[in-house]
Amino acid sequence: MEIAIDGPASAGKSTIAKLIAKQLKFIYCDTGAMYRTVTLLAKKYQIDYGNVSGILKLMDKHTIKFNNTDHGQEVLLDDENVSEEIRSEEITNNVSQVSAIKEVREKLVEMQRQLANDSNIVMDGRDIGTTVLPDAQVKIFLIASVAIRAKRRYDENITRGIKTPLKKLEDEIAARDYKDSHRKVSPLRKASDAVEVDTSDMTIEQVVSKVLEIVAENK
Ligand code: C5P
Repeated sequence: MEIAIDGPASAGKSTIAKLIAKQLKFIYCDTGAMYRTVTLLAKKYQIDYGNVSGILKLMDKHTIKFNNTDHGQEVLLDDENVSEEIRSEEITNNVSQVSAIKEVREKLVEMQRQLANDSNIVMDGRDIGTTVLPDAQVKIFLIASVAIRAKRRYDENITRGIKTPLKKLEDEIAARDYKDSHRKVSPLRKASDAVEVDTSDMTIEQVVSKVLEIVAENK
């Protein structure tokens, strides 16, 4: 079974997807982490985020692996755990440039489909329901207002010891949404058969039970 969860930045996709996967004993795949890891690769080797051939060469030379662990997905770049590093502000604010590269998407989409072939899966991202798994039995499109998403990101940052002004987070989230939904290849879009869930006024538990309800209806 395939469950696709898409939506804009910080809508709670990975929190929800992780909990759903745990509950259903499915594997979980955070595709955003893949685009973030390629962005980190470019940063580490000082390749410009717009240098397509440079980035593709790096992708051929290096290995990116994903492990499902009890606390979610672990990302390994050449066997180094980079799960934290890919969440830095620098990576967050530049990932949309790298994810707009057609060839980068082709390589990562192939990996994503392979993972889905091997097991029951909950996959989250921007183009899962539209492009990666168009036949997924369940497609969810999670949304929330920019203000709410920025506040959630703000609170999450505080727990990690980072204090970024709320207004800055709002601007960054809005800019990333704009770039992700206006790129040429697989832009962020709700699939025509996806169920939209507005999480603005919902708790995590409420969203999880709503999604599980939708899953049960589509089994
Ligand atoms: O989900 P997350 O916010 O970690 O994703 C980081 C970025 O990766 C997004 O802003 C987007 O540019 C890119 N992405 C994508 N397609 C996906 C998942 C993420 O383009 N399926």
